[in-house]
Amino acid sequence: MDGFTKIGRAIDMKDRKPLNSVIDGSSVVIVKADNDLFAFENNCPQQHFSLLHQGTIEGCEITCPMHGWTFNMKSGESINGNGRLKNLKVKNSDGWIWVESMKPAQSFSLFD
Ligand code: FES
Repeated sequence: MDGFTKIGRAIDMKDRKPLNSVIDGSSVVIVKADNDLFAFENNCPQQHFSLLHQGTIEGCEITCPMHGWTFNMKSGESINGNGRLKNLKVKNSDGWIWVESMKPAQSFSLFD
């Protein structure tokens, strides 16, 4: 699956138990909540700590353990602060979880 990284089997993920993974050298949080999957960069916009994988989850919201900012995992928007999470595309394909690559898109020039 081009542009995606295989994370693991969906059946091994516990509901509302964030998983911390590293994709292309960056920390990424993956969450299974009910029948939805969410993935976002593990970088809280409040003070840029990378502890969202230790956050608490209610519905489709995650609360950062550092200072209590809460984010909607679907939109990435903060509920009680400014800024937003950097959401990544996540797919379940034949029981395997795949998350969008963190690498920036390749740029090229037609005129070298
Ligand atoms: S670093 Fe997340 S709320 Fe402060």
